[in-house]
Amino acid sequence: LLSLGLPSIHQAIDVRYRYSVHFTADMFAPQNTLFRDILDQDGGDGPKQILCVVDRMVSRHHPNLVVSIDRYCQAHNLVLVAPPQVTDGDERVKNDPEQVIRLHRLIYELGLDRHSYVMAIGSGALLDMVGYAAATAHRGLRLIRVPTTVLSQADSGVGVKNGVNAFGTKNFVGTFAPPFAVVNDSNFLRTLPDREWRTGIAEAIKVALLKDPCFFTFLEAKAQRLLWRDMEAMQRVVYRCAQLHLEHIATSGDPFEFGSSRPLDFGHWAAHKLEQLSDYQLRHGEAVAVGLALDSTYSYLADLLSEDEWQRILRLISALGLAVYVPELGAHLADRGGRCCVLGGLDEFRQHLGGRLTIMLLEGIGRGIEVHQLDEDRIVRGIALLREYQAALGQGDAHGAVSERVFADPAAVG
Ligand SMILES: NC(=O)c1ccc[n+]([C@@H]2O[C@H](COP(=O)([O-])OP(=O)(O)OC[C@H]3O[C@@H](n4cnc5c(N)ncnc54)[C@H](O)[C@@H]3O)[C@@H](O)[C@H]2O)c1
Ligand SMILES: [Zn+2]
Repeated sequence: LLSLGLPSIHQAIDVRYRYSVHFTADMFAPQNTLFRDILDQDGGDGPKQILCVVDRMVSRHHPNLVVSIDRYCQAHNLVLVAPPQVTDGDERVKNDPEQVIRLHRLIYELGLDRHSYVMAIGSGALLDMVGYAAATAHRGLRLIRVPTTVLSQADSGVGVKNGVNAFGTKNFVGTFAPPFAVVNDSNFLRTLPDREWRTGIAEAIKVALLKDPCFFTFLEAKAQRLLWRDMEAMQRVVYRCAQLHLEHIATSGDPFEFGSSRPLDFGHWAAHKLEQLSDYQLRHGEAVAVGLALDSTYSYLADLLSEDEWQRILRLISALGLAVYVPELGAHLADRGGRCCVLGGLDEFRQHLGGRLTIMLLEGIGRGIEVHQLDEDRIVRGIALLREYQAALGQGDAHGAVSERVFADPAAVG
């Protein structure tokens, strides 16, 4: 009765996205034509209209930036529709709904349309917020990302996701929206605090572990230089990381994550929970480093990963100045049912993706393997191992003390 006897209409829509990630230094120097060329290639009549949003810390550390952008646009016949909007660049920008509304209002009042550009210059958090506002105004303006942290140049800024936090949940509201272009300007990295410099490298270790054993060896070889802030080494890390990331998006067959698996989220079920448990005092990359250490340890305890490779992973994380254990991981942090708090991250991870729990583990450096359940006792044993490792590091003896005891009898720990 209800079908009316009419056949269903089946429709497939193919949409092709194309965007480039560029690498340069000092992009608004008068003689650097990269940015102008990127816009020129977009065709269209008349001058290009740009709304620019700049991270407050970036503008503070690069006091000539705002003036340089203005001069550059004037010299190249680009229209800045308003003075660059200087905005907070840390997680607060994703927690405050007013920020998105303010940008929407500006876009509306300035009469921008789908052919206008929104250029975001700043940290991962700022890019996520501006990207979300740009993707939702008029159902999508052209977004130019200029990431200014290691993490965002290597990872978040080159991908297809944006979003803000809501109801206490990270990235609860957001869209998949590829940018118009990305410009990685290495000059910005010079002013990063040491902590930000280091934390960005965690995602590089992750992508090396999943996809590229040679890149892992490169990181081992350059660990000391990276710690000393060697810019050439860092540029190579950022480049390879961005390349692996983009390759994944382009070839994994699921750029918008319709499935239940998220291979690049290795170590992230614990990382997201640790960030939350620390009340966001832990930086994302710091939490990721611990998450990588935990899932690598689990892989070792599950006989997937060799002892030698497991040790190399912990050693590299530590050599890059990142911790493998933080108090938030502590088994003493239990929920009302007596379950270690961090384990709640597994439930939240499953909930965010929907469908069946899918966790990436390692069966070798450069070789990930997906599993659909984790043994909680084994995770807790892994946590105990990492606590010992970190404590021994504090006493200058990690690779000796822990491994001797652990390798003699892994079952004894935990
Ligand atoms: N969209 C994605 O796919 C994706 C992926 C991973 C992470 N993220 C998000 O990225 C965010 C983390 O990004 P982040 O690591 O860039 O940290 P962040 O956004 O917290 O920024 C760190 C701090 O560095 C400052 N800063 C930025 N550039 C600077 C510079 N050049 N010199 C001096 N200070 C500078 C910022 O103002 C901020 O205070 C999180 O919100 C995370 O959820 C998004
Ligand atoms: Zn991450």
